[in-house]
Amino acid sequence: MQSYRIGTVSEFEEGTKKVFNLGETEVGVFRLGEKFYAWNNICPHQGGPVCQGRLYPRVHENLDENKNSHGRLYDKTNINIVCPWHGLEFDVRTGKHPGNEEIALDPLPVQIEGGEIYVIVGE
Ligand code: FES
Repeated sequence: MQSYRIGTVSEFEEGTKKVFNLGETEVGVFRLGEKFYAWNNICPHQGGPVCQGRLYPRVHENLDENKNSHGRLYDKTNINIVCPWHGLEFDVRTGKHPGNEEIALDPLPVQIEGGEIYVIVGE
């Protein structure tokens, strides 16, 4: 198990991500609000570089009681990363695919100490 310092909280903009090579492991680190999440940059679908995809708020169809659509609603509290290879989406906070929770990203622990961000890699 190895701990890698990847930067400081203050230099990591809210709502963004960065990809790091930490030893043999490529890791995507995301900041949503004051929380940080780290995911192995290997898509569970076919191994694509999922963390290099784009971030999108989850989209909901705005339906009335008669199921008529009134456009789309964007849930900015629920941000997904979209894999650039085939477009599967994963919730940045949980790592899970919204339609099938069995399909999920591989998490890595993140520690914040004195404003420094560390990611733990390995067993
Ligand atoms: S490899 Fe990521 S969606 Fe297929």
